[in-house]
Amino acid sequence: MEKLEKRAWAEPFKIKVVERLRMTTPEYRERALKEAGYNTFLLRSRDVYIDLLTDSGTNAMSDNQWAGMMLGDEAYAGSENFYHLEEKVRQYYGYKHLVPTHQGRAAEHLISKILIKPGDFVPGNMYFTTTRLHQELAGGTFVDVIVDEAHDPEDTSPFKGNIDLVKLADLIKRVGSDKIAYVTVAATVNMAGGQPISMKNLREIRELTKPHGIKVVLDATRAMENAFFIKRREPGFESHTIAEILLEMCSYSDACTMSGKKDLLVNIGGFLALNDPEVFEEARNLVVVYEGLHTYGGLAGRDLEAMARGIEEAVEEDHLQARIGQVEYVGERLLRIGIPIVVPIGGHAIFLDARRFLPHIKQLEFPAQTLAAELYLESGIRAMERGIVSAGRDVKTGDHVYPKLELVRLTFPRRVYTQAHCDVVTEAVEAVYDRRKDIRGLEMIYEPKYLRFFQTRFERL
Ligand code: F0G
Repeated sequence: MEKLEKRAWAEPFKIKVVERLRMTTPEYRERALKEAGYNTFLLRSRDVYIDLLTDSGTNAMSDNQWAGMMLGDEAYAGSENFYHLEEKVRQYYGYKHLVPTHQGRAAEHLISKILIKPGDFVPGNMYFTTTRLHQELAGGTFVDVIVDEAHDPEDTSPFKGNIDLVKLADLIKRVGSDKIAYVTVAATVNMAGGQPISMKNLREIRELTKPHGIKVVLDATRAMENAFFIKRREPGFESHTIAEILLEMCSYSDACTMSGKKDLLVNIGGFLALNDPEVFEEARNLVVVYEGLHTYGGLAGRDLEAMARGIEEAVEEDHLQARIGQVEYVGERLLRIGIPIVVPIGGHAIFLDARRFLPHIKQLEFPAQTLAAELYLESGIRAMERGIVSAGRDVKTGDHVYPKLELVRLTFPRRVYTQAHCDVVTEAVEAVYDRRKDIRGLEMIYEPKYLRFFQTRFERL
């Protein structure tokens, strides 16, 4: 008799409410795709079966969070839910002060405006679109100081989110510490494939920057997922709790920007949390201009409550084990059938390597965009292009930016899809892979001016 394989993870919840999905035919999807200009951002959600566009704001909340929504204190000022969130942020992230915002980019906006002077540099471990844009709008220049391994989809280093300390030290030497607004440290690094940063690296960044008086701002959007990787991969943390690791991670920074729409299991919300009383004073002042009063920051009381409760659920190890376990389950199955993906498998998504998947399609025929379109056609799965379309155009020359990586991101919302859905995904990828030689690229027929990936339209070649 055959022995069954032991599972490494299982869901620490059961399902109480379901949302019905529409099953569509290939003919229907062909029409919908054509109407959407072969851009998955332009599809209607009702035409999508499994939506892996993003893990942002797409999580399933718990009954406990929904119950909290009913306890929303919708006072304009001093809402009870703000104080609850403040208490939880202090307890789990360890910063003294909280400024709530409607989502992550609003916190990035505030901190960039406060700390960056025109002409400053902002080093970081690979850019994220909104983070870099706010730094640039404040007059700063982003400098990528991530380790080289992060740019290689086949490199299997365990902490491909680390900062290269030599690159950082060189930048400080070259421009002078006065010209460095702060260091942005993302945990995990989204654009590198959801790759974590190690505790050792965080500690060393602190040691390097402190004597120069340079601040460190953590992008804590997926910091709990990062903490889980530290527990699993970094010697000395095996018996720590996720909460202990998170607190130590944050202790090596001065502030964090946060998109609660990821780790914190809500559909909307974010915050800026920090220690410096003067920066806090300024942030509390500015939030009133751009978001709303400092005790609601653009959110309803009920949203603050859902996020406060989300923190406590998200930091549980069994939750993270199942969340990351699900992503790894899909990734490992794809690797087993020879599908080229970014390794190691990251925390929130599988990144298909479209260059290796569709080697006959030239970069200007948009291999990643094509692959995302074919996946939708195959099984109604929606993914996101992260290649030349997302990279946009060079501001000076007007030519396309040609990124090294042509990726398709299959991003997993938390607590939303089942293992059967996961199997549909791997089967669809396999089916597209089997007919890859017959797939033709795309031609761009319309291109908007800003963040073009959202609205560009294509036709089949
Ligand atoms: N930082 C990181 C690492 C992110 O992944 C995101 C959003 C943000 C900041 C901005 O937060 O959306 O709440 O304003 N990432 C989403 C994604 C949009 O699909 O990866 P936001």
